Amino acid sequence: RASVTHGVDYTADDVAPRRRSRFDAEPAPATHGPFHNAIDTDPAVAAHREWAQRIVGPDSGFVPVQAPEITDTTVIDAAVARAVEVREAWSAVPAAGRARVLREAATRLEARRGDLVAAAVHEAGKTVPETDPEVTEAIDFANYYAAAAEALDTVEGADFAPDGVTLVTPPWNFPVAIPIGGVLAALAAGSTVLAKPAPPTPRCYELAVECVHEALEAVAPEIGLAPDVARDAVQYLRVPDGDAGKHLVNHPDVARVVLTGSIETAELFARWRPERPVLAETSGKNALVVTPSADLDLAVADVVRSAFGHAGQKCSAASLVILVGSVGDPSTVTGERFRRQLVDAVRSLAVGLPTSLSTVMGPLTEPAAGKLERALTTLEPGETWLVAPRRLDEQAAAAGLDPDRLWTPGLRDGVTRGSFFHLTEVFGPVLGIMRAATLDEALEIQNQVSFGLTGGIHSLDSDEIATWLDRVEVGNAYVNRHITGAIVQRQSFGGWKASVVGPGAKAGGPNYVAQLGAWRDTAAAA
Ligand code: ALA
Repeated sequence: RASVTHGVDYTADDVAPRRRSRFDAEPAPATHGPFHNAIDTDPAVAAHREWAQRIVGPDSGFVPVQAPEITDTTVIDAAVARAVEVREAWSAVPAAGRARVLREAATRLEARRGDLVAAAVHEAGKTVPETDPEVTEAIDFANYYAAAAEALDTVEGADFAPDGVTLVTPPWNFPVAIPIGGVLAALAAGSTVLAKPAPPTPRCYELAVECVHEALEAVAPEIGLAPDVARDAVQYLRVPDGDAGKHLVNHPDVARVVLTGSIETAELFARWRPERPVLAETSGKNALVVTPSADLDLAVADVVRSAFGHAGQKCSAASLVILVGSVGDPSTVTGERFRRQLVDAVRSLAVGLPTSLSTVMGPLTEPAAGKLERALTTLEPGETWLVAPRRLDEQAAAAGLDPDRLWTPGLRDGVTRGSFFHLTEVFGPVLGIMRAATLDEALEIQNQVSFGLTGGIHSLDSDEIATWLDRVEVGNAYVNRHITGAIVQRQSFGGWKASVVGPGAKAGGPNYVAQLGAWRDTAAAA
């Protein structure tokens, strides 16, 4: 089930061509990862910064969400009824027509790149270098699922029947790509869609749905639909969590729920809808293994990027680094060097507001609480802080942020097997160090967690790499690469074990669209 990625640090840019949104006339500068401070002299970086500065600055044009929250269940019922009403017309559009809408949506998303980035910066606290590739990923989903829709029509002897009304409930951490990826996949399958945003990031989803609405309306005449029918193939419903959200998830006419969120939410939905399908990508507790043969410079950079990008608020983030043999022994030259470089790199991460371009790690989207607060404040027996996290109260107050949202990163050493930090997803800027005498032991530690989403190894020994690939229990396995930022088609994304609920084909990969429906054997019927 794992998809394996070796080595080269691709960016999403070579999948989707880049253009500016409201700054269309300008050249398309390159995006770089969190270490842009080290490459300040690159003119492409300077050009990107200038663009980014306008996006996050006072001229960004960011408008907070205007749509009111919907708590009235009769309004929800009416929206579901409308989704049922237009379902037949939409599902009757041939795959080529649905693909045409998706490709048009790709163009519209590209055209509003700057607005989408600005929304994610302002709502989620995400930095521009983290968000810009996310918009590219959304565009990639549109083009990839367009091709997937076309492929549904080429199977002989079988007809594809979409699930029907599909509810797409995404998280706030990838507030553009994950929501709209789910919407586009369901549209590609031929279902009508209800789009419920995560409460912290309603405008990101609303904007992305606006792009899809523009595409549906523009293509409607070509595919023989009235514009209002085409438009209502997707309805944006700003329904909060709680009773109204439960009413929507439970609605008898919602045929399928596509959830990306915590394991707790997935379990809740599964209890609410025991007989009906939920498709969920959930939590992770992901580790990177570093062996003595590794390129240590690369390993440090990839560990830091994987652990602290978007302040660690990714299901794919590295929460553990497992050091094999001498890498974990600071009395050796290798171990001392690795530790010093890692500590330096973590200390050097500039924490602040995403509206400042010198910021590498922005605020938390929601105040630290529960498991994350424990991870930021409390050591378990045997652990020490190599870099202790600090709450930046003054900076937060100056920026009008809740103090529990602005933390410096933490590096905890001596995490032991079976402990809280070994096994629990904390979803924030804390990395734990574990040690293993051998690669076998590292694999035991890595596979002991209940989740199986992402994992990585840094090693230049082909036997070690082969052994690890053979035995690691994760959906996305990365070799000599950071473990976040899967690229559509190249690294389809999804987990196994407790990280997945439902059929489990991966986002941006084969069968993702096909799992949102069922095949009818036309040969047998005839
Ligand atoms: N698809 C996201 C990543 O790979 C979650 O980081």
